[in-house]
Amino acid sequence: MGRLDDRVIIVTGGAQGIGLAYCKGLAAEGAKVVVADIDKAGSEAAVGELGEAGTDALAVVGDVSNPEDTEEMARATMERFGRIDGLINNAAMFQRPAMSRVPFDQIPVEEWDRLMAINLRGVFLCCRAVVPHMKDQQSGKIVNISSGTVYFGSTNLLHYVTSKAGVIGLTRGLARELGDFNINVNAIAPGLTISMDESNDVRSGMNQQRIQARALKRSEVPEDLVGAAVFLCSSESDFMTGQTMVVDGGAQMH
Ligand SMILES: NC(=O)c1ccc[n+]([C@@H]2O[C@H](COP(=O)([O-])OP(=O)(O)OC[C@H]3O[C@@H](n4cnc5c(N)ncnc54)[C@H](O)[C@@H]3O)[C@@H](O)[C@H]2O)c1
Repeated sequence: MGRLDDRVIIVTGGAQGIGLAYCKGLAAEGAKVVVADIDKAGSEAAVGELGEAGTDALAVVGDVSNPEDTEEMARATMERFGRIDGLINNAAMFQRPAMSRVPFDQIPVEEWDRLMAINLRGVFLCCRAVVPHMKDQQSGKIVNISSGTVYFGSTNLLHYVTSKAGVIGLTRGLARELGDFNINVNAIAPGLTISMDESNDVRSGMNQQRIQARALKRSEVPEDLVGAAVFLCSSESDFMTGQTMVVDGGAQMH
């Protein structure tokens, strides 16, 4: 028996990287998984892989910053599975698509707006789309993906750090609004995680420094984040809401 047997969980940005690891980890605990991603080929490949492993999975292609697309994400999930038990808000402008890594006054205004639309408005829109169904069920688990950069105060990505700090504020406020409906809202703040082929990762130099800053001195990989996601989607976290779990090998302690 799995810890998430028959729970229906949507993972935005689930086509690859850490999102795909969440999908596989949730599926391994018995969940039915909806891969919601802007990348059509990637989502379909992910669902194919999950299906081969015996998981009932659905791909929904859309842009989390677009209200019609997020409504369609919830509608398609309800049509296929008849319920929504969890939502992991993982999609972001980060590596895919890549953001600029420059001093704050060189961030193009258009990129600031686009990043906020995906990383912050997208979380709001996805929550707005699924919460009516969770309220009907009188249960639900929302997990928002923030970032350790908020605690670290990382430089040369101010739009990103600001958006991920916003995710923590959204998590706290929404947790209080939804407590009466038995809906938990929590966040995970990953540390620097090798989520793509290191030869393509602009951060591979930074990784060595980050390893030295950790209590647990090794690279962080997507699978390191799966346990926190499974826990926050399971009944084991039923009395926990409004919290942010930092999963970074002890680089930040709060
Ligand atoms: N990798 C890290 O070091 C790290 C550290 C801290 C936090 N995070 C956060 O974890 C999450 C996953 O990280 P990752 O490294 O796997 O990211 P990634 O950039 O590799 O993948 C992002 C995924 O989101 C999808 N996506 C992008 N824009 C979208 C949109 N508008 N609508 C729908 N889907 C969209 C992409 O297609 C991709 O599948 C992100 O929220 C990221 O900010 C990552």
